[in-house]
Amino acid sequence: MSRLQSVTQKRVFARTQPCWHPDLRLPVSRTVRNKFLLFMTHMGMRPPDPILGVTKAYETSAVKKEDSGRGCLPAETQIAAKNLDKEYLPIAGLAEFCKASIELTLFSQIYVTVQTISGTEALEIRPRCFSVQTIRHIGMQLQGYKYYDPKTWAFDFIGISKDISKMPDNEKKNLSIFFDMAYQSFASSDGNKDAWAVHHFTEEGINVCLCQSYTKNMGFYGKQMGDFTVVCKDADEARGVESQLKTLIHPVYSSPPLSGAQVALTILTSLDFQKQWLQEVQVMANCIISMRNQLVSNLKKKDFSHNGQHIPDQIGIFCFTELKSEQVEKLTKKFSIYMTEVSYISMARVILDNWAGYLAHDIY
Ligand SMILES: Cc1ncc(COP(=O)(O)O)c(C=O)c1O
Repeated sequence: MSRLQSVTQKRVFARTQPCWHPDLRLPVSRTVRNKFLLFMTHMGMRPPDPILGVTKAYETSAVKKEDSGRGCLPAETQIAAKNLDKEYLPIAGLAEFCKASIELTLFSQIYVTVQTISGTEALEIRPRCFSVQTIRHIGMQLQGYKYYDPKTWAFDFIGISKDISKMPDNEKKNLSIFFDMAYQSFASSDGNKDAWAVHHFTEEGINVCLCQSYTKNMGFYGKQMGDFTVVCKDADEARGVESQLKTLIHPVYSSPPLSGAQVALTILTSLDFQKQWLQEVQVMANCIISMRNQLVSNLKKKDFSHNGQHIPDQIGIFCFTELKSEQVEKLTKKFSIYMTEVSYISMARVILDNWAGYLAHDIY
């Protein structure tokens, strides 16, 4: 760095007040902050996100694009006609939406639900309680565990059990269960069936955390609708958890967006809209299931080296195909079929573009 650049940077730093640690949100010394900013300016480009990169590649390709549907339009029209105000929501979001949303999954537990910016933010809140305040602050270490067996192309139950059993006893007894339910109903077409695991744990008296997203099952991509729930042992605990969650949310995004919450609330609380939504979700879920079956039967005809059962055994909108990277590259380059480098594909796109018929043929 030239002397001039460094002097200019120093001036910029000197004017930057106050100094906050980016994670801990605590005041830090100016020297630490200067080092951090200097580091930022020399970091260069981060690699593109593997999933968003696929969407970008698809969008910029010459492939014909189809309308992805307007399922929530009637509810949006109804809200627009009401000409509601555009005030900030409270930190925890639209309370009526949170109630209607969690009632799709939980029945009688004591819980706290906060609206979040899509499922991604809901996933971020829980680790933030730990990672900021506990893991980094008191020097705990993060460790992974096995969950996927590359030999069977399936969930590694033995691996996960072994890894959990290796944890120190005091941690093992304090496991925190977090369900990521990003598209309820898209797995089986029945919302209750999809929530079976959550019901099972809560019925066993285990107070779980839960993330819900309406991005896929309501087609709310740009509306960023989700929520985060903590099941609590009693009302006192619920009050404490709620205040902690608000403290985590407020400095990050102040309060969640209003418009999607109003549309989702309208859909969830109007009998007609809810019926229509559930029917649409059912159609979509059944399409995904039948596309998976069609894909595997086509692969079998093509002498696929594996029985392909992992494709219908997996559930939901995405499919981890286990194609080799050369196959992924060939599909993208020659046939404009897009998926991540590790062969993760959106089955919803397979339906829209009717790929299942020729996907299998083009692989080899
Ligand atoms: C399993 C899973 N969890 C969470 C998310 C994030 O949800 P959202 O798109 O609402 O941020 C996704 C997104 O695809 C997902 O697949």
